[in-house]
Amino acid sequence: MEGSHENAEDENQIVTPWEVAAKEGGRIDYDKLIVKFGCQKLDQSIVQRVEKLTGKPAHVFLRRGVFFAHREFDKILDAFEKGENFYLYTGRGPSSEALHLGHLVPFMFTKYLQDAFKVPLVIQLTDDEKCMWKNLTIEESQRLARENAKDIIACGFDISRTFIFSDFDYVGGAFYKNMVRIAKCVTLNQVRAIFGFTGEDHIGKVSFPPVQAAPSFPSSFPHLFGDKNNLRCLIPCAIDQDPYFRMTRDVAPRIGCQKPSLIESLFFPALQGETGKMSASDSTTAIYVTDSAKDIKNKVNKYAFSGGGDTIENHRKFGANLEVDISVKYLSFFLEDDAELENIKQEYGAGRMLTGEVKKLLIEVLTNMVERHRKARAAVTDEMVDVFMSARPLPDMFG
Ligand code: TYM
Ligand code: TRP
Repeated sequence: MEGSHENAEDENQIVTPWEVAAKEGGRIDYDKLIVKFGCQKLDQSIVQRVEKLTGKPAHVFLRRGVFFAHREFDKILDAFEKGENFYLYTGRGPSSEALHLGHLVPFMFTKYLQDAFKVPLVIQLTDDEKCMWKNLTIEESQRLARENAKDIIACGFDISRTFIFSDFDYVGGAFYKNMVRIAKCVTLNQVRAIFGFTGEDHIGKVSFPPVQAAPSFPSSFPHLFGDKNNLRCLIPCAIDQDPYFRMTRDVAPRIGCQKPSLIESLFFPALQGETGKMSASDSTTAIYVTDSAKDIKNKVNKYAFSGGGDTIENHRKFGANLEVDISVKYLSFFLEDDAELENIKQEYGAGRMLTGEVKKLLIEVLTNMVERHRKARAAVTDEMVDVFMSARPLPDMFG
């Protein structure tokens, strides 16, 4: 097995696909995760290579290290440089009516990759997973999958290069054959070690990982990739999904497939601070793409953890602690202007700017972004969802 056999639990932090938490007051230690999971750090030389190969400036998330880790992303770039193609794969577990800002991170980035490299993309909606983990009915999970598909489409994916599928609708045929090939290579002891399953978990959970693994192989999509079985796959996601793909990469050579490459992001933190990720299950930690301008204002003002001084005098004297300040963190994801961000950090860090002023700027940035998303989502029709979600050939997907 690549990297570590254990799931990523240690005394100070837990990072699994279901739980992200640092010990009280602590923060997620990403360098430690890289070592523990056995992935590679994404350094500036890779960012420069991406710029050179695509002829476009790198996305903010690349420039600022939001996507901070990878597994063999360099192999994708090598192949691309030689004129070979690849495809993108990402996904969403439809557990809530609306996406939150954290979910937008991998999707916005995937859209950039699709445009920059001009490659096809498959998006898995794991309605089966959420049905099993969140105790939703099958019908409710399917409904949420379709609702989430609208938010995903609103991120701007190219309909001529994108296939979105729900597991309940698509699993079968070639996809199911790959699931069985994968399942035969993984023992119960291994999934227990990777995912932390216990004897009390139902067997639905234990048998799920091959479902998330299968889209990493082009042969799961014969209508798209025909017999291009050597096409490489690149998976953008937050690092909580790494356990699935550690397993997938371990199995790949044993079933005669290429290992998928990964490019992995930090967690967009909860409003309360970097001890956890923004999570859809807790509405006080999250800002949803459906929140009104008023919701956003209230949530930011009320909950966004401040690194500012406890009194104005102390703040003027000592400045803000930018390391723990959530408003600054959020701006570093979503405020695109590098110079403006730098200026805010300097002024706030020196105590010349107050938390309230930074929050005001953040509220503006987020409100604009959510408003843009709302408009884009309103323009997504049921017919468009049907097209994105139909298993159809995409003749111009590499064009
Ligand atoms: P889900 O629905 O939990 O999350 C969807 C995507 O969003 C990422 N994510 C975040 N990124 C940044 N900050 C956050 N706070 C945050 N919360 C979630 C997740 O890492 C993921 O990329 N089992 C998966 C669905 C799935 C999938 C995939 C994801 C199926 N195949 C392939 C990525 C790649 C799930 O429940 O994701
Ligand atoms: N992101 C999910 C949430 O908190 C967590 C989750 C639940 C998950 N079950 C999963 C992630 C299975 C990956 C796989 O809503």
